[in-house]
Amino acid sequence: MTEKNFVLKGDLCWSDESRSIQTISDGYLVCIDGKSAGVFPSLPECYAGLRLVDYSPYLIIPGLVDLHIHAPQFAFRGLGMDLQLLDWLERRAFPEEGKYANLEYTRKAYGLFVEHIRRGPSTRLVIYATVHSEATLLLMEMLEKSGLVTMVGKINMDRNSPDYLREESAALSLAATEKWLKGCNFKNTFPILTPRFIPSCSDELMRGLAGIQKKFGLPVQSHLSENQQEVEWVGKLCPQSAGYGAAYRDYDLFGGSVPTIMAHCVWSDKEEIALMAERQVFLAHCPQSNTNLSSGIAPVRRFLDAGVPAGLGSDIAGGVHDSIFRTMADTVQVSKLRQTLLKTAEKPIKLEEAFYLGTAGGGSFFGKCGSFTAGNDFDVLVMDDRNLAAPFELSIQDRLDRVVYLSDERNIRAKYVKGNILF
Ligand code: GUN
Ligand code: FE
Repeated sequence: MTEKNFVLKGDLCWSDESRSIQTISDGYLVCIDGKSAGVFPSLPECYAGLRLVDYSPYLIIPGLVDLHIHAPQFAFRGLGMDLQLLDWLERRAFPEEGKYANLEYTRKAYGLFVEHIRRGPSTRLVIYATVHSEATLLLMEMLEKSGLVTMVGKINMDRNSPDYLREESAALSLAATEKWLKGCNFKNTFPILTPRFIPSCSDELMRGLAGIQKKFGLPVQSHLSENQQEVEWVGKLCPQSAGYGAAYRDYDLFGGSVPTIMAHCVWSDKEEIALMAERQVFLAHCPQSNTNLSSGIAPVRRFLDAGVPAGLGSDIAGGVHDSIFRTMADTVQVSKLRQTLLKTAEKPIKLEEAFYLGTAGGGSFFGKCGSFTAGNDFDVLVMDDRNLAAPFELSIQDRLDRVVYLSDERNIRAKYVKGNILF
């Protein structure tokens, strides 16, 4: 494994549990066996013999983490953006997802998606596929070859969806899920159970999925409290539960011993936020999607204050841009609008907090990941920010701010995942 022992030199910048920006100018980041061995202002003697890759004067930061993205929706991003969630699903998302019954189309579409995210700033992603098992396995094979680390879900949906996409019964959906799981034998591409959201999953299906979750010990992802009409609908579908989040909990698919990500949570009330904190359910905050689909602005400050673990999601194609840098900027911007429009006392999210969410915050869903702390997986982006120079001196933190707001994939000079270089 010696090829995974090396040192990077450059301007280091990262965030950890402190949620503040840490920097070392002209510092050293050591990789041993694909894991960080720590950051150093000068190289310790014991690492002097390792191969040194000198990236100065570039910025070296942790790889970004996308906690919520729909692979099949990549194909139609930027279209249908005048609709709200339920109409957008019917008129845009479902018709496109229906095409993944065709493996030839799937190969073409997922090929474009995987190449795009491989070149982008995310090193880890939690992904929705479609209901189709074979197409989902094809996506997973492509992702495995990309070098990225991902979790991927075959979607379950057996009600309130068009005939061409709806699984015929809960039993068939569960059987297809078990069959798909048998095919999931990858090193860096992991299955995650993916009931689409409560409106598209019957009671029987949700209970069956909880059984599969226990049998295989799988993580779970879904959508929660994204849109007001949707929340009302779930109230009618699950009158026995105390709320939308409580309904997932009542199905045994909401945190506790089940690692869980819930996307959006725009309309979560105090009780739902407290339940997520108690059960350590991750929030995937998707501000661009919430803006495009007129869903609203999630109260991120309340989630953070309550101790809910959180990260960021592009939610392609509710969101148009897959870059989590863009999501960080959106997070800051919509939180300021929220404060101004609602005149709340909640403080807006600062850029350093958004940077934390898009790296270590989301990364912690994958284990030890998302910062340069010794022992973490070595997921690194090297950003060439020379085209963002100013006529005055910029600190490393200033440079990070500009990278967040102004960079694109052309600024990515190198990308490492678990100590492997992707490019
Ligand atoms: N809720 C259920 N399905 C979806 C989806 O595909 N995108 C978004 N944004 N919300 C959903
Ligand atoms: Fe989504």
